[in-house]
Amino acid sequence: MSEILLQIDGREVKTREGATILEAAQSAGIDIPTLCHHEKLEPYGACRICTVEVETRGRTNFVAACLYPVEENLVVRTRSEKIDKIRKVLVEWLLAHAPESRVLQNLAQEYRVKEARFEKEPSFCILCGLCVRYCAEVKKKNAIGFAERGVRREVIFIPEIASKECWKCQECFSLCPTEAVQATFLLTEALCNYPGSRFRVHGSTVRQCQPRNLEP
Ligand code: SF4
Ligand code: FES
Repeated sequence: MSEILLQIDGREVKTREGATILEAAQSAGIDIPTLCHHEKLEPYGACRICTVEVETRGRTNFVAACLYPVEENLVVRTRSEKIDKIRKVLVEWLLAHAPESRVLQNLAQEYRVKEARFEKEPSFCILCGLCVRYCAEVKKKNAIGFAERGVRREVIFIPEIASKECWKCQECFSLCPTEAVQATFLLTEALCNYPGSRFRVHGSTVRQCQPRNLEP
């Protein structure tokens, strides 16, 4: 595989063909913030916090570093006034979902978010998909998934699979930037463990369903 030479923040960086800008930056010790990226998972491009500026063939564009493949002589800027503005608005919006998230609070400090401009949302999940994708791609269990679409989209555990797989695993817990997955699991477990329970948890919502048991 041939090598690609590009410029990131004024530094020459050599990387392999097919790498993403994020991979190239990381290999050179250049920090780009991420929320939905995980090195073991396929790129997803949901959060856009990794937005960087690229200059190619005389044009400047804003792209997601975790998705964009490197090109020979590509010029990349990982910080600029415009990039910081984009990241700041994203953090403000995400904080409306999960104001207690330490990860988001650190980003808020970095990008000087002073007040919450967006209306609070009744969910701690920022839909980064890390838990869902990790369970599907790495564990190959699909014990957790997304339900609904648009603003109603949320993460749910599938009780039939979770009851067999999740108790010993829980590897997705440490990936979640907001601890929403832990909360959803605990609620699912508590409600479905209750003898004769007719409830199932969908994110922050509890709905009636067939009795199910989560075994310890
Ligand atoms: S529960 Fe956590 S890890 Fe899963 S999609 Fe929501 S924020 Fe991401
Ligand atoms: S880390 Fe690139 S879009 Fe989320």
